Amino acid sequence: MRLESTGLTPQELKDMVNQYMVETYERYDFIAERAEGMYIYDEEGNAYLDFYGGVAVNSPGNRNERVVAAIKDQLDDIVHTFNYPYTVPQALLAKKICDTIGMDKIFYQNSGTEANECMIKMARKYGVDHFGPERYHIITAKNSFHGRTYGAMAATGQPGTAIQDGFGAMLPGFSYAEFNNLEDFASKVTEHTIAIMIEPVQGEGGVHPAAQEFVEGLRKLCDEHDMLLLFDEVQTGWGRTGSPMAYMGYKVKPDAVSMAKAMGGGMPIGACCATEKVAKAFTAGTHGSTYGGHALACAAAYASVSEIIDKDLSKNAYEMGEYMKKQLAKLPHVKEARGRGLLVGCEYDIPIAVDVKHGCLDRLVLITAIGNNVNRMIPPLIVTKKQIDKLIRIMRAAIADAAEKYYAMDMAS
Ligand SMILES: Cc1ncc(COP(=O)(O)O)c(C=O)c1O
Repeated sequence: MRLESTGLTPQELKDMVNQYMVETYERYDFIAERAEGMYIYDEEGNAYLDFYGGVAVNSPGNRNERVVAAIKDQLDDIVHTFNYPYTVPQALLAKKICDTIGMDKIFYQNSGTEANECMIKMARKYGVDHFGPERYHIITAKNSFHGRTYGAMAATGQPGTAIQDGFGAMLPGFSYAEFNNLEDFASKVTEHTIAIMIEPVQGEGGVHPAAQEFVEGLRKLCDEHDMLLLFDEVQTGWGRTGSPMAYMGYKVKPDAVSMAKAMGGGMPIGACCATEKVAKAFTAGTHGSTYGGHALACAAAYASVSEIIDKDLSKNAYEMGEYMKKQLAKLPHVKEARGRGLLVGCEYDIPIAVDVKHGCLDRLVLITAIGNNVNRMIPPLIVTKKQIDKLIRIMRAAIADAAEKYYAMDMAS
């Protein structure tokens, strides 16, 4: 829908949102009306260069042609059915994903947080089935992010932040260990522990990749204690880090993995994949979802995943990610440019990330800020060197403005 067709002015539309919507987001002051490839267009036709990617979702590009065609095609046949008849998109997608990432089974969900709920439930059920009712405890990482529903929220290792504060007791059965610290994870294992769950690269936590030895060490620790290794690949999955799944880059296979975001190429879908042994924990009635496996979402996901694999967008993610980090590291005030593939964090020596984000927005480039020290770039995986050069030019200007403002405020205080 376009603004023009509503007869509203831009301000009237924004006022409507402010009046009627529960707002937990700090809105950017433009109306996103259209999108194509690396660009989002506002109601006046201004083109924003997109290093946000719908929060790491639009990996094959905004409104990727193949994804759009698959949605249109599926719309003419069936949109949604209950989960008892077989459907073609569910079947094709299941085989494509399992074959590509070396997993045996998939359970469809609708979002990242639900994919994690599914994975947590599967692990706990596996623990209880195999070792008795007290085997349900899961260790996750401090500073992790796993989602906003109760299980995923409790799994998120950020007590004392807005994510968990004020919601009463968290779901029991989780403890948090320091990311990239194998000894700390080992010290948290008890006779109740059934699994360790991590993001291969902590995204919302500031863009911190797991060290190779850490991931290998966790695999060994899990094997030694009959525990499951669970990877939350909601953000890292489907090409983002330079391989189809990040664990394939580490060459360390988890027992189960969650995914969402890029999987649907813009349509809401998530999933948990697992080995046969672990997936057997779910039998009739133990888990379900009305919309999980939605025909339209599965058709879009089949196109999205196929596009990422067929065009080898993982390779572009790796190459462009390396290039972006090198260029970012040359900018003033950059303490560290880090990440894996096109999940890139830029940390400053002064707290300017929010102002840099706004400075980029004013110059029609979209990036994210994590806290006030780190900007995160998670563009579609089709990004080019030329577009990265533009980002760097604009960030240089935004950093200069933000630093000037910071020092002026510092002098005044
Ligand atoms: C690693 C990770 N897990 C889970 C989630 C939650 O996904 P969703 O917002 O689709 O529920 C996110 C969202 O950013 C994420 O980055």
